[in-house]
Amino acid sequence: MLHTYLTTSWGLRYPIIGAPMVGVGRGRLARAVSEAGGLGMIGIGTEPAELIAREAAIARGTDQGRFGIGLMTWAIEKRPDLLEAAIEAHPFLLSLSFGSPAPYVERLHQHGILLATQVNTRAEAVQAVGDKVDLIVVQGVEAGGHVTGQVSTLPLLQAVLDAVQVPVLVAGGIATPHGVAAALAAGAEGVWVGTCLLASPECEHVEQARVRILQAQETDTILTRAFDVAQGLAWPEQYPGRALRNHFTQQWHDRLETLPQASEARQQLATAIANKNYDVASIYAGEAVGLVTRQQPAGEVIHALGNGAERLLRTRSSLLLDGYEASSEDEG
Ligand SMILES: Cc1cc2nc3c(=O)[nH]c(=O)nc-3n(C[C@H](O)[C@H](O)[C@H](O)COP(=O)(O)O)c2cc1C
Repeated sequence: MLHTYLTTSWGLRYPIIGAPMVGVGRGRLARAVSEAGGLGMIGIGTEPAELIAREAAIARGTDQGRFGIGLMTWAIEKRPDLLEAAIEAHPFLLSLSFGSPAPYVERLHQHGILLATQVNTRAEAVQAVGDKVDLIVVQGVEAGGHVTGQVSTLPLLQAVLDAVQVPVLVAGGIATPHGVAAALAAGAEGVWVGTCLLASPECEHVEQARVRILQAQETDTILTRAFDVAQGLAWPEQYPGRALRNHFTQQWHDRLETLPQASEARQQLATAIANKNYDVASIYAGEAVGLVTRQQPAGEVIHALGNGAERLLRTRSSLLLDGYEASSEDEG
């Protein structure tokens, strides 16, 4: 058993949170991650608010399972109904990312909901602690999906661990027990993983997307606004998204300013999304996609990460500190 804030204070079996992933990480995935002993989250963007109640019911199940909901701050500024629906669903944890969570902290705490936020700089982490956020998620630029700033996970983690006293989780590039062990050994209280769950059957991806995810290497992603601009999405400029490179990013990533007028390309993208043609349509994924090589149920992914990290920490710490390898009995 690993012992961190998430296991001792929250009672999780593993210090692992399934990241909220808009469009693909909904109730089923959240449920599977929580059932396995982590905490699963539902990702919400600008969908109809009714979706929140529906997916929360799936995540909760009949046994009152715990789950979290991730909202985007820029979206709830325009759509306060999303925040209301999330509060109504009463998640264990709410995450507000991509904008300041400050205006919402008090209200969420009044409802007994813990609040996490993803940060991309040390300054944002310090600010979030000042705003009374309960949990800081350090999101490096190698993370899948939307991300801001330029700092990679490891330097950001070190900067933030030195700067704040609240529990810190690590997001971005963690997809094997080695990554989990490294984050915990460094001082994080847990990991926040997205990409490593993308090929799991509980994720809302179709088979064609799963195949691409399994085939992709760590070098196959790009941080781009091409898909958002082409679809006219309201994502603020400072938040590009990390996705798999394809024909569309090859053609448009360097020509964003002409994209709003390129109606043919925009139509091509809309058709590709409808037809699940991923030569053109987007698949958001992080650099850790190169580590995803099997379609594994989400629960198995969580077990493998947690148990594997524990084994690694046991053997590595004996080896590093005492100069011998722990016996298999010690590995638990
Ligand atoms: C497909 C996808 C969708 C995402 N959607 C959201 C989201 O809705 N809200 C959010 O806060 N983060 C979102 N993220 C970012 C994750 O919260 C997290 O930072 C990231 O997955 C961690 O890095 P990793 O992908 O390397 O594990 C998304 C990530 C992916 C891969």
